[in-house]
Amino acid sequence: MRIRAVPGGRLQGSIHVAGDKSIAHRWLILASTASSRSRLSGLPSGLDVRSTASSLANLTVKARPALDLWARNVSSWVEGGGSTWNDTPAGGSYGTLEVEGEGRDGLVEPRGRLDCGNSGTSMRLLAGLLAAAPFTTELTGDLSLRSRPMERVASPLRSMGATVRTTGGHAPISMTGGRLVGIEHHTEVPSAQVKSAVLLAGLHAEGVTSVTETASTRDHTERALTAFGGASAVEGLTVSVAGGQQLVGRTLTVPGDFSSAAFWLVAAAALPGSRVEIEAVGLNPTRSALLGVLRRFGARVHVETAADENGEPRGTVLVEGDRSEAIVITPEEVPGLIDELPAIAALAAHGGEVTVRGAGELRVKESDRISALVAGFRALGIDADERDDGFVIRGRSGERPKGGVADARGDHRMAMAFAIAALAAEGPSTIDGAEAVDISYPGFFETLERLVS
Ligand code: S3P
Repeated sequence: MRIRAVPGGRLQGSIHVAGDKSIAHRWLILASTASSRSRLSGLPSGLDVRSTASSLANLTVKARPALDLWARNVSSWVEGGGSTWNDTPAGGSYGTLEVEGEGRDGLVEPRGRLDCGNSGTSMRLLAGLLAAAPFTTELTGDLSLRSRPMERVASPLRSMGATVRTTGGHAPISMTGGRLVGIEHHTEVPSAQVKSAVLLAGLHAEGVTSVTETASTRDHTERALTAFGGASAVEGLTVSVAGGQQLVGRTLTVPGDFSSAAFWLVAAAALPGSRVEIEAVGLNPTRSALLGVLRRFGARVHVETAADENGEPRGTVLVEGDRSEAIVITPEEVPGLIDELPAIAALAAHGGEVTVRGAGELRVKESDRISALVAGFRALGIDADERDDGFVIRGRSGERPKGGVADARGDHRMAMAFAIAALAAEGPSTIDGAEAVDISYPGFFETLERLVS
């Protein structure tokens, strides 16, 4: 799909964004293995979370009908208005998915491979979940997912006692669960997905399992464990879980996805005269470092926090564009901004300068995000330079880039970053592969149209 992105003056409005993808994966997984029923509201309709739901449908008996139906029908989600898949015969009130937990040891051998689509979180977290399941499962995904590194998760799960075969370090992965023992795992690159996979396996291991990181990453798994009646212990950069925990079902509402909101917050900061408010958005401190970056850039940022619900902070964020300062993102900041870096690049399309260092991990995301970003920005007429572990984007104040044709390379965050950058251009631009937004943000282009004035 090719989308024509029309230049815009400024963004104005107040919106909700769909539920947080990272939280939704985890809550679906824990709800499926809890001992009783959960009611999950605010689940996002993006393809990634549907990959987790349909994989879990394949691994469950009681939860299967509702998960299966949700994974297939959720596309009728109306942003901000709830979903319309409530015709589920498996029950569930409007916009709420009811998951009958199978219990600790209730997972069943799936018929065929589990297809994780484009979702690295689905594949890595499910690998952790399946490490103790007494059968063999094959996990696969699309071309992008099959090129991403999987040894980082396979290796610790093997040390715990699972039999894990990768395909040259990549998916397809074959997992045969076993009797697990707790390990002390030290991650080489900060990764919430690896941390979470090891902790999920640790719930089924003998003794204590701990993960020590070199920098802290998003802590949704730790918070979700508490929400579902379990526990984890955090000491500095080490998180531990005890094996043998039985989780219980809960009624929870997913907050809006901060990483989706990021595109609107960046656009508001970059286009002077803009004013965008996002309501009920997740404000977990391990995810919201972008707010500080926007302030450094010169934006006015106002945050109103609401009461925490089930351990996940949320609130309203208001951003108004003002100035365009040069900003540098340092290696230490990268783990807290990893999914926002494509949006941050778009900040400079409108003036100012963005330098990102120490972000080599971007090369193993849904695309090589360093190369894809720089190529796309250049194609739009924006001055961009590639570094081994980052990039520099230089906007020219007072002079608009020409616009052009940018290729999203099948990556949802590239498509959205290019759409925001294209607002700065002199003429219309085209984004090739724009349908990738459906991975995390169906309805992105409709909201863009609504906000631009
Ligand atoms: C995620 C963790 C991050 C992030 C991804 C979602 C998660 O990946 O980039 O989009 O939900 O745990 P890494 O943990 O591999 O850095």
